[in-house]
Amino acid sequence: MRILAPSILAADFTRLGDQVRAAVCAGAQYIHLDVMDGAFVPSITFGMPVIERLRACTDRVFDVHMMVEEPGRYVADMRKAGADIICVHAEACRHLDRTLNQIRECGARPAVAVNPATPVESLSCILNEADMFLIMSVNPGFGGQKFIPYTLEKIRRLRRMLDERGILADIEVDGGISAANAAEVLAAGANVLVAGSAIFCGDVEANVRGLLAAMEEQTG
Ligand code: DX5
Ligand code: ZN
Repeated sequence: MRILAPSILAADFTRLGDQVRAAVCAGAQYIHLDVMDGAFVPSITFGMPVIERLRACTDRVFDVHMMVEEPGRYVADMRKAGADIICVHAEACRHLDRTLNQIRECGARPAVAVNPATPVESLSCILNEADMFLIMSVNPGFGGQKFIPYTLEKIRRLRRMLDERGILADIEVDGGISAANAAEVLAAGANVLVAGSAIFCGDVEANVRGLLAAMEEQTG
């Protein structure tokens, strides 16, 4: 299933609830929430209190992307705040397998993200342990960056690795996604697309509809 996950990082935070409702109303299936700690990445964004309050706006899937060192420290609280998917960076977990178990045990769906320079082959041992893999197509930390083209090959390789083992996990791609490259990214083997500035800069509903239409164009 093809899924669009608007990232609220580019939203107008003075009217966050309305912006999320607009994205949902236009058909976005997930809401992508970028949690940054100022250590794993240079920026600091928001945490559990914001997610908990947003939870009242929608029952869509909350896809929490934790750009946080040792995110296992926050997994239980993040779940309590309303996270459905908890995505941790392979580079930020000393004991990735343990962190993924913690996520599943608290009732959320585990996902693993990798930075552009981290090879997908490093995921081979844990392919069965996560429901989704997130290929970063920019260096994490900021919205509005340019898509890094070599990450397309990483998506293809990861999809091949999953197919060879008969694993039906989702592949999410995050960074520099727009209606112009959505079809190409899906064709490489992704099925969940994150978009921040392409959705929240301008008319949110029209942008969501445009991206969903571009995602349908891909047939292969
Ligand atoms: C970047 C974040 C992204 C970001 C994407 O570190 O993980 O989710 O919001 O923003 P765009 O779509 O503007 O590249
Ligand atoms: Zn993200």
